[in-house]
Amino acid sequence: MPLISPSILTADFTNLASAVEMINNSEADWVHVDVMDGVFVPNITFGMPVIKAVKKISQKPLDVHLMIVEPDRHFTAFRDAGADILTVHYEACIHLHRSIQQIKELGMKAGVVLNPHTPVNVLTDILPDVDMVLLMTVNPGFGGQKFIENSYRKIRELKKMILDVNPDVLIEVDGGVVLSNAQKLAEAGVDVLVAGNTVFSSADPKDTIHRLKHSI
Ligand code: DX5
Ligand code: ZN
Repeated sequence: MPLISPSILTADFTNLASAVEMINNSEADWVHVDVMDGVFVPNITFGMPVIKAVKKISQKPLDVHLMIVEPDRHFTAFRDAGADILTVHYEACIHLHRSIQQIKELGMKAGVVLNPHTPVNVLTDILPDVDMVLLMTVNPGFGGQKFIENSYRKIRELKKMILDVNPDVLIEVDGGVVLSNAQKLAEAGVDVLVAGNTVFSSADPKDTIHRLKHSI
């Protein structure tokens, strides 16, 4: 059964507290928090004050996905704001090994994210050091986009690498996760499903989380 990390990117920002409370009362495992800077991706979302506010009321760990350039400059601030898991883009980190070590030294779980065009084989030498790999299954920047079908091939290839090198590493996917592909993703080896639009645009978000988790 996959872990579910609802992305608050698609929540109603005028009522973020009710989105977090819904997650608290659901079968969701984490809260996915998308930080965008308008440079690494063509969109800007939110930063530390909003994360701090979410942390105050969240009963679930914050899974913070950084879509920003030079993320290393802000690791301590994200930790202080309440991030439990911090994922950084391979494409944004020149010294990825150092970045991963710093995140772990600050007491957070460390994840690395790949854009859709980045092959999984670039991860060979960092897999022993990470807690999670996040595969983007859309181009990062916006919620509600269409799932890229080539992702299944990448998931299967990554799963093989993980079993060889470091079986504890979790695979998370982000973008275009819907009720009709959740089961296939879990079967391909995905451990954590991020879902924004599917959860927050549904009539019954709690029930949708239940369905994603149980692949029904
Ligand atoms: C996209 C973000 C995602 C986004 C996913 O850049 O990283 O986390 O919220 O949204 P959906 O689930 O709507 O595709
Ligand atoms: Zn994300």
